[in-house]
Amino acid sequence: MITLGEYIIKKQHESPEATGELSSILGAIRLATKVVNRDINKAGLVDIIGATGVENVQGEVQQKMDLYANDVFKAALEARGEVCGVATEEEDEFVSFDDQRCINSKYVVLMDPLDGSSNIDVNVSVGTIFSIYRRISEPGQPVTLEDFLQPGTEQVAAGYVIYGSSTMLVYTTGYGTHGFTCDPSLGTFYLSHENMKIPDAGSIYSINEGNYLKFPQGVKKYLKYCQEIDGPTNRPYTSRYIGSLVSDFHRNLLKGGIYIYPSTASAPKGKLRLLYECNPMAFLIEQAGGRATDGFNRRIMELKPTELHQRVPFFCGSSKMVDKVETMMEEYSSEEK
Ligand code: AHG
Ligand code: MN
Ligand code: MN
Repeated sequence: MITLGEYIIKKQHESPEATGELSSILGAIRLATKVVNRDINKAGLVDIIGATGVENVQGEVQQKMDLYANDVFKAALEARGEVCGVATEEEDEFVSFDDQRCINSKYVVLMDPLDGSSNIDVNVSVGTIFSIYRRISEPGQPVTLEDFLQPGTEQVAAGYVIYGSSTMLVYTTGYGTHGFTCDPSLGTFYLSHENMKIPDAGSIYSINEGNYLKFPQGVKKYLKYCQEIDGPTNRPYTSRYIGSLVSDFHRNLLKGGIYIYPSTASAPKGKLRLLYECNPMAFLIEQAGGRATDGFNRRIMELKPTELHQRVPFFCGSSKMVDKVETMMEEYSSEEK
């Protein structure tokens, strides 16, 4: 049984240029995960569920757990001293860590501290998503906005935690996507899913169909295609949508499937955030052999971000399924490009 800590160190030793800083950041994330996991597990017993009554910069109601998770991850990263700044879904601006060790460090972290948080009150799986980049600005200075507005292709590492029927941490540093399951009696993550690969094609589609009338024509056509009866391709497919990106993504990664959050008439850029949600998930899915695009054949990871809280339409999953919906987008929605 290999623990997450052992695995990170083993991988560090395999790259001669590695200095241990990235391993230390992943160690800080692992520690914060355990704290958040412990508290999510007793969410019904203590006063940490429910809304704060405050909206975040994106106009979404913040849950108490959103802010709690945000604080835990930030504190763990700052204490480790290997990160010069963070940007998170819950804060309007990026945060610069200016003490001597942090300001000289090379990395920034972007994160969605609690994904799917509206599900927590009803005991459905939630998650954490993170993404790590090398800073562009010179060490020794406070971090700048440009350090955070890098395309996803520049990610050094990305991952998510799923607080589900078991707690798992899944991450990549560009050498495959690897999953670790927490043994709750020991509080230790063990390697359980090395080098995960998403099937090329699957039979699950995940989309909030309540928005159907506002979807682009290409997505509507694809959904009808998924629902048609057709022997050779095993259709109709199965519709599965939890409403926690991490959980929907994790299921589709293991079983094969597609997750779509398209633009809608009322949200022309979709709902999901490029920096905190789509880029890390795109890195993980590509490392597992899948695809992530904006529906118009543009690779998510190649988009150049222009603002921290930017949203983007998200088509992600088994490569053949993403190919198929893209041909339909091209045919029926190309004018919306
Ligand atoms: P968050 O809780 O971090 O704001 O993210 C919620 C996201 C994502 O987890 C999920 O896939 C999506 O919102 C669900 O949105 P809809 O309720 O519009 O389907
Ligand atoms: Mn989210
Ligand atoms: Mn969130």
